[in-house]
Amino acid sequence: MTSSPDTPAKLVSDLAPGVVGTPLAATPLVSLAGVEKTYRSGKVSFEALKGVDLDVAAGEMVAIVGASGSGKTTLVNLIAGIDRPTSGTVTVDGIRLDVMGEEDLAVWRRARVGIVFQFFQLMPTLSALDNTLLPMELAGRGSRRSRRAEARLLLSAVGLEDRTDRLPAELSGGEQQRVALARAMACRPLILIGDEPTGNLDTETARSVFPLLRELNEAGTTVIYVTHDLGLAALARRVVTVRDGRVVADGATGQAPPPTPAFAYEKGRP
Ligand SMILES: Nc1ncnc2c1ncn2[C@@H]1O[C@H](COP(=O)(O)OP(=O)(O)OP(=O)(O)O)[C@@H](O)[C@H]1O
Ligand SMILES: [Mg+2]
Repeated sequence: MTSSPDTPAKLVSDLAPGVVGTPLAATPLVSLAGVEKTYRSGKVSFEALKGVDLDVAAGEMVAIVGASGSGKTTLVNLIAGIDRPTSGTVTVDGIRLDVMGEEDLAVWRRARVGIVFQFFQLMPTLSALDNTLLPMELAGRGSRRSRRAEARLLLSAVGLEDRTDRLPAELSGGEQQRVALARAMACRPLILIGDEPTGNLDTETARSVFPLLRELNEAGTTVIYVTHDLGLAALARRVVTVRDGRVVADGATGQAPPPTPAFAYEKGRP
């Protein structure tokens, strides 16, 4: 159930031998074991993660919190396949990311992960529609016509059906982040990762974007996000606290499932 039917068939077979494990139903979707990450610049090294064990099951919604510099971005970058650990294993959907080469990781990431950053990182010269189309074009998904239809569906799911032709500079911060969310969902990722996805928005706007993450999660996407805002962390069902490169707390919030309908896009409603 963790593999989508439209995963490019060549993805797994293209990977180096020994990389692919056997996904089992009971296996967590994300599993970090003994993960250490040391950054080196010249003779100076810094241990950003000092032995992290973390499992996330398919369908979970997990908030990662902790002080600035505690290692949150380092942690989610390992799960997203943006970076690799210095030691330890990172397994996502039965695939060992820590032993993959750069190119394989890039292919894997494009097909499996949607990422939303604090500063949106939209292409400034492209419209909302073209920004949303970009990942599908890079992945060569479907026909041009079907890609455009899918991008419009995604933009209407985030409430921007009347803004599709606007450039990022012609959109508010909250609207730009909703485009970033539509773009992150464009290849129907297994996991949506947000690194302070609403960190650049005022609290009210942040709280208007967040229900979309909840809806995506309700529709089956595993969501992992970093936040400084404990109010937003409480919207997840599980909060993982990182301090000084270690996971120091990991617990349920007691948050009930939201009374929102399934993400409109997933229901196929334009
Ligand atoms: N490329 C790098 N080279 C050297 N040190 C780094 C590098 N990236 C991060 N660090 C250090 O590793 C530690 C963890 O960084 P990380 O970005 O994971 O923190 P964070 O918890 O995301 O912080 P913030 O809340 O400020 O975003 C920090 O002390 C940071 O200075
Ligand atoms: Mg960070």
